[in-house]
Amino acid sequence: MASNKTEPLKIVVIGTGYVGLPAALMLAKAGHQVVGVDIDENIVRAINEGILLVKGEQLESIMDDPIVRQNLNAQSTPCDADVFIIAVPTPLDQTSKTANLDMVIDATKSIVPHLTNGNLIILESTVPPLTCRNLITPIIENEGFKIGQDIYLAHCPERILPGDIFYEIVHNDRLIGSFDQKTQQMAANVYSSFVKGEMLFTDDVTAEFVKLIENTYRDVNIALANELSSVANSLDIDPVAAISLANRHPRVNILKPGIGVGGHCIPIDPWFIKQVDEKNSRLITTARQINDDMPKKIVNKIKHITQNISQPNFVAIGAAYKANTADVRESPSNKIVSLLRAEGYKIDHFDPLIEGMEFPVNIVEACVNKDCLIILVGHDEILIELDKHEQTILSKLNHPLIMRFFN
Ligand SMILES: NC(=O)c1ccc[n+]([C@@H]2O[C@H](COP(=O)([O-])OP(=O)(O)OC[C@H]3O[C@@H](n4cnc5c(N)ncnc54)[C@H](O)[C@@H]3O)[C@@H](O)[C@H]2O)c1
Repeated sequence: MASNKTEPLKIVVIGTGYVGLPAALMLAKAGHQVVGVDIDENIVRAINEGILLVKGEQLESIMDDPIVRQNLNAQSTPCDADVFIIAVPTPLDQTSKTANLDMVIDATKSIVPHLTNGNLIILESTVPPLTCRNLITPIIENEGFKIGQDIYLAHCPERILPGDIFYEIVHNDRLIGSFDQKTQQMAANVYSSFVKGEMLFTDDVTAEFVKLIENTYRDVNIALANELSSVANSLDIDPVAAISLANRHPRVNILKPGIGVGGHCIPIDPWFIKQVDEKNSRLITTARQINDDMPKKIVNKIKHITQNISQPNFVAIGAAYKANTADVRESPSNKIVSLLRAEGYKIDHFDPLIEGMEFPVNIVEACVNKDCLIILVGHDEILIELDKHEQTILSKLNHPLIMRFFN
């Protein structure tokens, strides 16, 4: 591949999930010839048939665009290309609390037979600092290529917000991290075909770290709100009222307390910082523990509130990790329901946005002959229904009680 190319490129995207598929769609829409590669045959088949396994109106309209249909196809193994984008999962090993990079290693090894001089590899997956230098570079260089001379390697982490992917993938500023300026320019050329945000140039290690900083900032600030909320509860005062009053100070902006954090980023990425420098990550580690403890605290609260009801029969609503998405990864609401069930509580659990968890009829009918309603996630459509039918819902419950735990 020649750098500074403006003509269409052949781009292979390895891993076509939440991150890889939107990138593949946008690149195909921009006129590049894109091959989405996924080890999951169902995903490959769906892309080739123009079917989306991830819900989203904007996604559907882009998938249906004739230019995209023409430029994008999928297969289960890589092929030769100008650019390889790696967007595979980097899960947390739950025992060691370190990144499991096996899929990044496998994806890198899978493209090695297809590399030729001039190719650009972009890692979009979230990784601990030094992954490009200490893990990917040796795999490529063991094959006789020199990074920065024969093959160009950049880290351009994805920073999209699930739920608003298509606005953010275009309008967010894009971090372009690489050892050298030539690679940075090559990667910027790829993204400038659809990104309207600014290109922020830096080295690869800084780019790896910056992505982790962003989610760690969120995690630590949410932990502060949750901790203050716990203290307010011990004092028997309203945490939300206390925090709102504190936020009237011109330099205070405390987030809202909640039931914990979920998703594929915030509960995981801070551990990748601890992994590379444990000694200097004490606050980060404590914040992680505070947020991980929240589901248990919410369970204790529910038990306390309902202690006078014998063998309560609950309806819980919300299984996604945040409002208005169907993403259940690391969802604290699911943890709360599992913890309650493990203690023998009977719970009907619904989430209208998640396939297979919809109400059989509606929210009102779901409450008939149940003791209490627990709202764990504040999806807009649930809040609208609650607003409309609150009195009827209360009249259907054996114990007229709606517990709201969303923020
Ligand atoms: N989901 C998000 O909102 C988000 C946001 C920013 C960054 N990230 C990061 O992006 C990366 C990808 O996350 P995701 O949410 O897209 O994951 P995902 O699970 O939705 O998709 C990843 C896809 O990669 C495929 N895959 C795994 N190994 C493969 C291989 N060797 N070859 C080909 N395909 C392979 C899987 O089958 C899967 O379809 C992670 O590092 C994540 O932390 C995710």
